[in-house]
Amino acid sequence: MIFVTGGAGFIGANFVLDWLKQNDEPVLTLDKLTYAGNLANLASLEGDARHAFAQVDICDRAALDALYAEHRPRAVLHFAAESHVDRSIHGPGAFVQTNVVGTFTMLEAVRAYWSGLAGEAREMFRFLHVSTDEVYGSLGPDDAAFSEVTPYAPNSPYSASKAGSDHLVRAYHHTYGLPVLTTNCSNNYGPYQFPEKLIPLVIANALDGQPLPIYGDGSNVRDWLYVGDHCTAIRAVLAKGRPGEVYNVGGWNEQTNLTVVKTLCQVLDEISPRSDGASYATQITFVKDRPGHDRRYAIDARKIERELGWRPAETFETGLRKTIEWYLANGEWVRQIRSGEYQHWIETHYRNRDAAHPAKEGA
Ligand code: NAD
Ligand code: TYD
Repeated sequence: MIFVTGGAGFIGANFVLDWLKQNDEPVLTLDKLTYAGNLANLASLEGDARHAFAQVDICDRAALDALYAEHRPRAVLHFAAESHVDRSIHGPGAFVQTNVVGTFTMLEAVRAYWSGLAGEAREMFRFLHVSTDEVYGSLGPDDAAFSEVTPYAPNSPYSASKAGSDHLVRAYHHTYGLPVLTTNCSNNYGPYQFPEKLIPLVIANALDGQPLPIYGDGSNVRDWLYVGDHCTAIRAVLAKGRPGEVYNVGGWNEQTNLTVVKTLCQVLDEISPRSDGASYATQITFVKDRPGHDRRYAIDARKIERELGWRPAETFETGLRKTIEWYLANGEWVRQIRSGEYQHWIETHYRNRDAAHPAKEGA
């Protein structure tokens, strides 16, 4: 069987669901169920004997040891993290705790478990660490895209804590020979993404008649990858990646934030038009920028294509349509998430932002 940490979150849940669609190898999902973890994401697996769930904090060594002893996984896919840059600006402590201390605790537990394996089980074992392109810092408009040898230059508490975790993973390979794999991926979007992140936030706000908040002038650039493509990349790295190696994963799809939001509005205008006939783009609002906002991320994903034959299957157009259709069909999931803690976040984070930059974008 395999362990998936953070499997109740956005990418982890997509991975678990995809994994069990592809094969019958059992999965144990390990998740603390923070505000971002949601068992509803895995509801379709209820009663499925191939899936089990353990509510556990990755900082809890004793709990991890007990799970390794009981389940003896052949691989660990480590998704669990605090993942939202804006939250890391408001409160960096949780990011250091989960992303650095938690990954360290995972590595120690894995090292103890792996050291006790012999023969083929030891040879075949893998620890796959899921990381981000944000560890490489910010690019200028004409800079070459991030490759696996780009020096680390993280700028936010989130990316710094992920960079710390990447360094620990690397060190456990070099020092102890632990068979690790690391992926550094660009911005994901798709089903089950928590609506604090740009794309689901814009879809949910648009349908709710709320402002669509764009930080600064909207010219920051991200590379966007459909989450299902990230999952196929991770499966390829797990199956064929060389231990100790890093693989950058991206969509060959750089877009400014303004283009992303305008494209979302166009697709929504087409498939779920506003009752008054106006475009959702009339809801676009430019708000105060994020401090230290990285200008541009771009991924050079040639290594994973060359070595493992992986390329994204979705275009931005097909991926966005699937995503919007999923959110339209899953209004109840969105409604449940947008109650409680989420409201508190939105009020704290967006309050006073509009007032600072009230310029509205016309349709
Ligand atoms: P997410 O915030 O949606 O989910 C994170 C999950 O981890 C949640 O289920 C949460 O409950 C769990 N978790 C948090 N702290 C935990 C702890 N201490 N112990 C156990 N579980 C804990 O995040 P996501 O967007 O699915 O990202 C998953 C991974 O992929 C992260 O490591 C992130 O850095 C990385 N990543 C994300 C993106 C992206 O665009 N979302 C891009 C590249 C890489
Ligand atoms: P986000 O989804 O938070 O991912 P990341 O910061 O990890 O790249 O944000 C994507 C881009 O969208 C980023 O440049 C910040 C911007 N953004 C907005 O303009 N408005 C928003 O309300 C949010 C959440 C993000």
